[in-house]
Amino acid sequence: MSARPLDPPMAVLAELTHRCPLQCPYCSNPLQLRTASEELSTEDWKRVIGEAAALGALQIHFSGGEPMVRRDLEDLVAHARAAGLHSNLITSGVLAGDGRLIELARSGLDHVQLSFQDSDAVFAERIGNYPGAQAKKIAFARKVREAGLPLTVNAVVHRQNLDRVDAMIELALELGAARLEIAHVQYYGWALHNRAALMPTPAQVEAATRAIELARERLNRQLIIDYVVPDYFAQRPKACMGGWGRQFMNISPDGRVLPCHAAETLKEMPFDTVMKRSLAEIWRSSVAFERFRGTDWMHEPCRSCDRREIDWGGCRCQALAIVGQADRTDPACALSPHHARMAALAEENSAGGTAAYIYRRVGSRAGYDGRTR
Ligand code: SF4
Ligand code: FES
Repeated sequence: MSARPLDPPMAVLAELTHRCPLQCPYCSNPLQLRTASEELSTEDWKRVIGEAAALGALQIHFSGGEPMVRRDLEDLVAHARAAGLHSNLITSGVLAGDGRLIELARSGLDHVQLSFQDSDAVFAERIGNYPGAQAKKIAFARKVREAGLPLTVNAVVHRQNLDRVDAMIELALELGAARLEIAHVQYYGWALHNRAALMPTPAQVEAATRAIELARERLNRQLIIDYVVPDYFAQRPKACMGGWGRQFMNISPDGRVLPCHAAETLKEMPFDTVMKRSLAEIWRSSVAFERFRGTDWMHEPCRSCDRREIDWGGCRCQALAIVGQADRTDPACALSPHHARMAALAEENSAGGTAAYIYRRVGSRAGYDGRTR
């Protein structure tokens, strides 16, 4: 492990709830969803927000599920502002009653990140399994701008919408977004179950990548577009989460603290909870955060690679999903002995065979019952 002193996390992701009116088949929430009765109370979240600021975090992302399900969101945003944290709301935008956004802006919210499932309403509403979602999202985006808040549009792409990437860029422009994040589906959890319905073809990835490059040149400062080639088509992995235990803490609705949103797929990993330990203790010494922090845990080819402190060996959850061992080189890396297996899976899954989705709701314990609290 690096001998450098440990820096504080840059950001904390507060998953306030797993409840959500949408049922996207690539949801990053775990398969085992937490119920409303398991969620941290307002007072516990406030304590955790204070601990995050004291630890030195700069940002807090309020996420879910759908964080607007929580009626105490305004209170938590105000608490984050008072603690000196930059706050970002990550939302589907379908639950904003009149005036809620104004109230959030008054409470000190700094930024809104709004997800779109597609530019086309029919496809979008099929993915989210929520009729009427698109019009609500568009109305919500306008309210964000009216409230004077900066807007990022988040578009998750896959085989069934990747051909409309140009239309997604136009939609983001039309809505006055400053930033567009075009993110390929990451295949663990729910998305792993839906891989055959979602994996793009190589031709689609190539065309979309080209279209995005052209749009970046054309739009220059008007719209920032974040995009990277998907792992299954890459030669080198991304530094997942900026490196395990280096920049982010994910807090699940019941208070367990995870190094990444998919960490629960690592079945043997013990996770500490904010109900028993402070965020600072967890960051500095929890088994989960220590397990893959730095480079000591690495095997070859990562161990002697000159990129080991650039990508930190890629994604642990992806190594587990494809190789069966979380401590191996991410197979997105062409130097991994399992890289060819990943390419074969991409080919096999993108050939399709199914367009049907397994929705997030199926088999889960916590759907969304229409209530807020
Ligand atoms: Fe990154 Fe490991 Fe591949 Fe080197 S061998 S590029 S450190 S994943
Ligand atoms: Fe868990 Fe990449 S999603 S390390």
